[in-house]
Amino acid sequence: MHSSIGPLEEALALYVEQSALCQALSSESLVLWDCGLGAGTNAFAAIAAVLGAQAEAPSNHRLQVVSFENDLSGLELALENEKILPYIAQFREPANHVLDRWRKLGPDESLRETISISSNVTWTVFDGDFRTALERAPAPDLIYYDFYSPKVCPDLWTKEVFSLVHSRSNPKCRLFTYSSATRVHVALLDSGFYVGRGQSTGAKNHTTAAAMRMEDLKSPLGPSFLSRLERSHIYSLEERAVLRARLSLHPQWRQSIT
Ligand SMILES: C[S@@+](CC[C@H](N)C(=O)[O-])C[C@H]1O[C@@H](n2cnc3c(N)ncnc32)[C@H](O)[C@@H]1O
Repeated sequence: MHSSIGPLEEALALYVEQSALCQALSSESLVLWDCGLGAGTNAFAAIAAVLGAQAEAPSNHRLQVVSFENDLSGLELALENEKILPYIAQFREPANHVLDRWRKLGPDESLRETISISSNVTWTVFDGDFRTALERAPAPDLIYYDFYSPKVCPDLWTKEVFSLVHSRSNPKCRLFTYSSATRVHVALLDSGFYVGRGQSTGAKNHTTAAAMRMEDLKSPLGPSFLSRLERSHIYSLEERAVLRARLSLHPQWRQSIT
């Protein structure tokens, strides 16, 4: 979801820079899950940043970007609107290759296409529902979670989905998303992630960073989250009591102080 600061600026601030992608890649190879390819802004912003960094400081570490999308017409539209989305020009060839393959699919077929972008960077596209495709994808070290909002697409922001993601993630995996909804924090905590505030980006005062390990969060939520939850009107009194009892057992509060 892109805000008023513009898609590329948001992709850079919220995902590429906040995750310190280029710095992380300078010490190890990474698999990056791009959840919701859409117009490709996040995926291409990440790849362009890494290509630039590796041109300046060559390294042998590899980046595998794995994009999930169940409707590649968003990418098609982006290619038709290169004037509005100029970042797409650099990736016209791989994007067209993916779309060509996608258009030739039979009704019951789905696409899994990997393209070599450079000697160290590959881009894989899984077309189909994220919840089934993720089982076949390489385990992620970084996740950019950018599906439509929890209000529009609640099914993709549940404990069940985040539990699937958590079970597939590498031990140091970090997840970034634009949503800072309380329900999203609850679902992430319930699935076993540690959860923190992400940095604000332009129009968004709050975003979310989650991680497999508490030490990978810059600004973890403290126990005051549980008190706020008790006052939250989005849950009934009964739900709040159940949530408080369940979430107070999360190891996050044993390690934090605020
Ligand atoms: C907010 S847009 C993504 C924007 C994109 N990250 C970008 O940088 O341009 C969300 C995308 O998720 C896709 N989507 C929605 N439900 C999905 C599902 N169950 N599995 C895979 N993709 C899905 C939509 O088709 C849409 O393109």
